[in-house]
Amino acid sequence: MSVTPWHVTGRVDYAKIVEQFGCKSIDTVLIDRIERLTGQTAHHLLRRGIFFAHRDLNELLDAHERGEPWYLYTGRGPSSEALHVGHLIPFMFARWLQQAFQVHIVIQLTDDEKFLWKDLTVEESQRLARENCKDIIACGFDAQKTFIFTDFGYMGHMYPNVVRIQRCVPMNQVRGIFGLSGEDSIGKIAFPAVQAAPALSTTFPHLFGDRKDVRCLVPCAIDQDPYFRMARDCAPRLGHPKPALIESTFLSGLRGLDGKMSASDPSNVVFLSDTPEQIRAKVNRHAFTGGGATLEEHRKHGARLEVDVPWQWLNVFMEDSKRLEHIGNEYGSGRMLTGEVKVELANVLIQVVERHKAARAAVTDEVVDAFMLDVRT
Ligand code: TYM
Repeated sequence: MSVTPWHVTGRVDYAKIVEQFGCKSIDTVLIDRIERLTGQTAHHLLRRGIFFAHRDLNELLDAHERGEPWYLYTGRGPSSEALHVGHLIPFMFARWLQQAFQVHIVIQLTDDEKFLWKDLTVEESQRLARENCKDIIACGFDAQKTFIFTDFGYMGHMYPNVVRIQRCVPMNQVRGIFGLSGEDSIGKIAFPAVQAAPALSTTFPHLFGDRKDVRCLVPCAIDQDPYFRMARDCAPRLGHPKPALIESTFLSGLRGLDGKMSASDPSNVVFLSDTPEQIRAKVNRHAFTGGGATLEEHRKHGARLEVDVPWQWLNVFMEDSKRLEHIGNEYGSGRMLTGEVKVELANVLIQVVERHKAARAAVTDEVVDAFMLDVRT
């Protein structure tokens, strides 16, 4: 098993990750606290343990209870035309946090990162950032409380904090945290400071003035943790609180639970631009299941839910908990067949993707400009 911001290989043991990375597990006490503070039922991604780890979330909630301001920060590295359904996890959840706590969110599009890591021109990364921005807006963020920026576009404003962070971090630390080698470009060594800077409130004077005490909460999958370990190390030295994190497991590819879904292998992935026919075909052909090898075996032993991709995906995308529980019972005991569960999953995905497409169609260029430009001077 290996988890870095660029590659996830093997079956991820999340308990081990918590130990290795030094973050904390999310327990029911913490979920209850969030419900109490927001007066809302926790999002299903939280209740079902898909957001499973955190750093300093209790401290952030203490600050919230004292009436202190804080903001959310998340992002996307624009390397493909459309987002895949795995990317919905942090964005759906961030949107829920925004409306539940009524806070600002800043969303970074790291077009520079993708230029440095992928075979893309600067212009192509910029174009993909704008396309991805439409997918992100379609997740339903509050236009009044959301600032989306690209690194190429906003760098002049962020640069003071980027260099402050760069001066804090020795090269060996970046190499250690990110596994970079002497052969990697100097751009890659410099980049982590760019992803860390938005975790400091002074990166956004149009939102927070010169206040250094506005806390930040980062929702993301656990692969992004290394950036924020570094940011948490630097923040106090720069007079800022450490950013808090709330971190999710990965949605796997269709072909099995190892690794994470990655856009580079289209048959393993469902994109937010896929048609209903494509989704049905992908689920039918490629989804790895834990169903019995023969009908008889399946009826006798039931499906092995712990290796079953449709079951794991339903846990992420099926909001109706009663129906989910029913499927788990029926499928796990062999009364429901693999084919039927695949139909359930395809239906849920088609609904999610079609709803997303309709929301995205309403995101015009003017809407994108409003989210990206209006607050900058
Ligand atoms: P990127 O574009 O690889 O991923 C965007 C967000 O989606 C999460 N993610 C996933 N979540 C669940 N299942 C998956 N299979 C899956 N694949 C990706 C990522 O953890 C991320 O939250 N460098 C970043 C962009 C970035 C960022 C940030 C992310 C800039 N600032 C702050 C989080 C927080 C990147 O390339 O993400």
